[in-house]
Amino acid sequence: MQQTPARRRARPPRSPAPLGAPVGDTPGLLQRAQLLPVPSTLLIPLAARARGARYFPWLDCRDAVAGELLQRLGADVNALLDDLPTVFQVLWRTRAFKDAGRAFFAAHPQGLGANLGCGLAQHFQWLDAGANQWLDADLPEVMALRQQLLPVLGPRMRQAGVDLTQPGWWQRLGLPPRSSAQPVLLVCEGVLMYLQPAQVQAVLAEFAQRAPCGSRMVLDVLTRQAVGSAARNPSVGPTGAEFCWGVCRMAELAAVHPRLRLLREQSAAEGCGWAGIALDALWRPWLGAPVYGVATLGVEDGFA
Ligand SMILES: C[S@@+](CC[C@H](N)C(=O)[O-])C[C@H]1O[C@@H](n2cnc3c(N)ncnc32)[C@H](O)[C@@H]1O
Repeated sequence: MQQTPARRRARPPRSPAPLGAPVGDTPGLLQRAQLLPVPSTLLIPLAARARGARYFPWLDCRDAVAGELLQRLGADVNALLDDLPTVFQVLWRTRAFKDAGRAFFAAHPQGLGANLGCGLAQHFQWLDAGANQWLDADLPEVMALRQQLLPVLGPRMRQAGVDLTQPGWWQRLGLPPRSSAQPVLLVCEGVLMYLQPAQVQAVLAEFAQRAPCGSRMVLDVLTRQAVGSAARNPSVGPTGAEFCWGVCRMAELAAVHPRLRLLREQSAAEGCGWAGIALDALWRPWLGAPVYGVATLGVEDGFA
C-alpha cells in the first residue's frame, strides 16, 4: 500500500503537552486510540464546534454532540481554543458546509450525502431531511474510535473505513454509479490539505469520473502559500501534520476533469465583514485564491 504522509510520519509532538492531553492522569479514549499526526487533527474542529461559539457567537453552529464527545474523550483542548483564527475558520466553514448540504437536500430530498474524512463530526444532525441518506467515512483507525463514540442513528445512516489516497474508494464505499438518476453530495472538510497534490487530483478525478450527473463536492482549500507552513499553526503544528496541498487559483479544481464545474467559491475573509472582504481583494492578485476558502464543485454530463 502506498504510504501517505498521514501514515508515514509519527513525529513526536513539538509542544510540551500533546494535543488533547488527557485531563488528569488517566489516558483518555483519544490517547488510547494512538492516532497518527493527520488523523489526530480531528480534535481541532471538534473543539471549535463544541466550545468556539463563545468567541464567535454569530457563527454558532449549535453542535448538539461535539461538547459531550469532548468530555468522553477526556481531552484538554484549552490550547486549541486559544488559537482564535483556527476556531473562526472551523465555525465559518461549518456554516458554509451546512448551507451547501441543506441546499442540496432541498433539491434532492431522497439523496445521499457522504462526509469523507469525517473525523468525529456529526453533520447528519443538521442535514437529516427525513428521507435522505448519509455516510460517514474516514481512515479505519478513526472509524474505530468513532464507533465507540458515535453509533449510527438509524437505517438511513452508515459508516465505513476508507483511505482516500487509494484509488477505487468510490466503489469501495458503495457510492452510486455514474448511471444513477440520484446525484450525490460529498463533503470533504479539513482533509485534502493533508494529502499530496497528485493524491488530491486523483480524488477529484475519481469523483468526476464516477459520480452521477448533478452531484456536488464541497471542500475547503488553503492557498498554495500555506503549503509547508503547518508548524507555524498553533493548532496543527503540535500534531506534526503538514499542509501538503494548496491552490494558486480556484479554477485549478475544475481543471482536473472535463466533467467538473466550479459552481461556487467562498473566502473565509467574507466572515470578517467589510474589512475581511477588502483584505481579501488586496491579497487576491498575489495569492490568486483565498487564504482559506470553500469550493463547491459540480459534475455535468455531455463533456467526457
Ligand atoms: C482536520 S480533521 C477533519 C475532520 C472532519 N472533517 C471535521 O471537520 O471535523 C482531518 C480528517 O481527515 C482524515 N483523513 C486524512 N487523510 C485521510 C485519508 N487518506 N482518507 C480518509 N480520511 C483521511 C483524518 O483521519 C481526519 O479525521
